[in-house]
Amino acid sequence: MDKMWSGRFSKGAAKLLDEFNASIMFDRKLYAEDIEGSIAHATMLQKQGILTKEELESIKKGLKQVKEEIESGKFEWKISDEDLHMAIEKRLTQLIGDAGKKLHTARSRNDQVATDFRRYVLKANKNIIDGIYELMDAVLQVAQKHTTTLLPGMTHLQHAQPINFAYHLGAYLAMFKRDVERFESSFERNNVSPLGCAALAGTPHDIDREETAKLLGFSSVSINCLDTVSDRDFALEILFNISTMMMHISRLAEELILWSSYEFKFIELSDEYSTGSSIMPQKKNPDVPELLRGKTGRVYGALVGLLTVMKGLPLAYNKDTQEDKEGVFDAVETAYISLEILKETIATMRVNEENMLKACKKGHLSATDLADYLVEKCGIPFREAHFITGEAVAKAEELGIDLSDIDYKYLKEIDSRIGEDVLPYLSIENSMNARCSQGGTSTKTTQEQLAYFKRFIETKKGV
Ligand code: ARG
Repeated sequence: MDKMWSGRFSKGAAKLLDEFNASIMFDRKLYAEDIEGSIAHATMLQKQGILTKEELESIKKGLKQVKEEIESGKFEWKISDEDLHMAIEKRLTQLIGDAGKKLHTARSRNDQVATDFRRYVLKANKNIIDGIYELMDAVLQVAQKHTTTLLPGMTHLQHAQPINFAYHLGAYLAMFKRDVERFESSFERNNVSPLGCAALAGTPHDIDREETAKLLGFSSVSINCLDTVSDRDFALEILFNISTMMMHISRLAEELILWSSYEFKFIELSDEYSTGSSIMPQKKNPDVPELLRGKTGRVYGALVGLLTVMKGLPLAYNKDTQEDKEGVFDAVETAYISLEILKETIATMRVNEENMLKACKKGHLSATDLADYLVEKCGIPFREAHFITGEAVAKAEELGIDLSDIDYKYLKEIDSRIGEDVLPYLSIENSMNARCSQGGTSTKTTQEQLAYFKRFIETKKGV
């Protein structure tokens, strides 16, 4: 009967209960947040006259020792202690005696875990933001070298219109920027202290929640205790934000996989970030982007898992919410390593400009430009221009060439209104540069976009 809550029980807990009920195997990850939270709480209790100066000093000293024991691997994590909160408090009391027993005044594990976990999540938000900025920087470095590197822009994975490689990468910069903003906004919204909410209804003790919030670096204090001890929106938000970020990462990963295949050969991944086959000696496999694509699935799993845990829970704290942590820990670790390895993969890959250009000579990428020419220079309605261009494409197919290489005489035969000044319109490079409307692919507008992303990255770097 060594449980802290065993006062009303006449029989000890079954071993099976201990195994099923415990979170200590995974919540021990929150030990630093828990100890800092306890120091802040005790500091406030002393200021309010609830603890003496001596008691506070002894609690601080004891907690310091507990922290050292944990960090040196000496701390004994026992499943029968249920969770880290009770294990730490128990050890503290062993070390310092009665003062340790006073620490839990005006506090419950419900506000304690909400505080620890929220602080872990807030920190993870910050770390992930840093990681995205670094990834963006790596993508930008590659993009800056390729504002004139032509490649086929696609829709339906079919050649559509020529674009440049920097523009393509710029699309991912735009996604990652939104990701940063999403994590930032979650950080702001959830930067609220749960400490002092106690079990569910607040406490009759004369506590100062503003003080503990300040000590722990929260920007404000939560408004309603009943909500606060059962609120896990902050955990859901980070799972959603990581899911969305991983969805973006998986799209880029998919393109890296396609681009490094023999069919494309647009890029070559560096040896350091490629793998071989155990049977086929010639193989070089893109395991990194494949795993990035695959790991996206487990992050979605964590999001859907927690949404389902929270669905229909009555107020306030329920033990169901103990299931909130593992998925978040896993998703956060997945986010960290994914950002890091994608950054390295991008920074070390080789871009094959020649093959990108060769691919532009397939699929009549400048067909829209011919139609635009017919509208602009010959005053032909777009629908009709579309049809005439279709005929020109059919002719090029018949000749076994790309529309950009067609001889003027064939165009003249198709429609006598077509002048020789059409030829520049058919060039792939001109086609790319013609799209100079705001947000378009021309080298000039691409450079403007890269400058915008560079400024965004520099704001973070504090340059
Ligand atoms: N281990 C618990 C959790 O992670 C801590 C809070 C337990 N509170 C309680 N009243 N049983 O959710």
